[in-house]
Amino acid sequence: MNSLASPKETAPRPRSRYIYSYEMAPLVSQGGRRLRLAPSLLSADFGALGDAIRAAEAGGADAFHLDVMDGHFVPNISFGPALVAAVRARTKRPLDVHLMIEEPLRYLETFHKAGGDTLVFHVESRSDPMAVVREGHRLGVAVGAAIRPDTPFSTVEPLVDQLDQVLVMSVHPGFSGQKFLPDVLPKVRAARERLDAAGSAADLSIDGGVTDETAVDAAAAGATFFVCGNSAFNGKDLGENLRRLRASVERGAARAVR
Ligand code: DX5
Ligand code: ZN
Repeated sequence: MNSLASPKETAPRPRSRYIYSYEMAPLVSQGGRRLRLAPSLLSADFGALGDAIRAAEAGGADAFHLDVMDGHFVPNISFGPALVAAVRARTKRPLDVHLMIEEPLRYLETFHKAGGDTLVFHVESRSDPMAVVREGHRLGVAVGAAIRPDTPFSTVEPLVDQLDQVLVMSVHPGFSGQKFLPDVLPKVRAARERLDAAGSAADLSIDGGVTDETAVDAAAAGATFFVCGNSAFNGKDLGENLRRLRASVERGAARAVR
């Protein structure tokens, strides 16, 4: 936990019977969708990021989520491309770069060159969403579109066919360690229906306040990509935290109607 993240306790849950490692078969939903856990490095100790990355990999992290904040789109300032490049040098796992910045179009190439695998921009930013998607395709990088908790799904709906990820924020962007907002779950369901109707294999990401309790509901609503900050890096055993989260995801996914 670093000073950018506000601490929040998560209640201990029973140990999962699922012992997962990246080398094992990936977790899939009943519909055959790949389910993935992405620890958010904003909540890790920046002074020992290499250790955090290694521990998360050993615990079964499928990807890493990197929260870029510019102090304009959100009040907080986190880190930029140099840190993304430093993480890139230390892991082969996919890097999911969440751009909470005013002008994603201007910086897409920079974060691509820094090593981001998926670049996720906000539809509420100042850049034209279609232009960002086109730029991502030109660069040959995966592109995701994110929406804040109070932004309707209709804002991203026309883009869905072009996207590799839809990210529904379940807290107001800017800080980790906040409480999950269950009001966003209908949007997750709407996104799931739209992606399924389009036959899209895009990730449906849920970001903010994902714990072993809330991950169940998010997975049941159809999310497939679970960003976990405080619930992963809360000072307790990281591997155990990830195992519990994974078991919750699996429980929720089993409940999802397909
Ligand atoms: C919030 C960020 C999240 C955050 C998640 O603005 O986008 O990715 O790091 O942290 P938790 O899981 O603690 O809410
Ligand atoms: Zn994020």
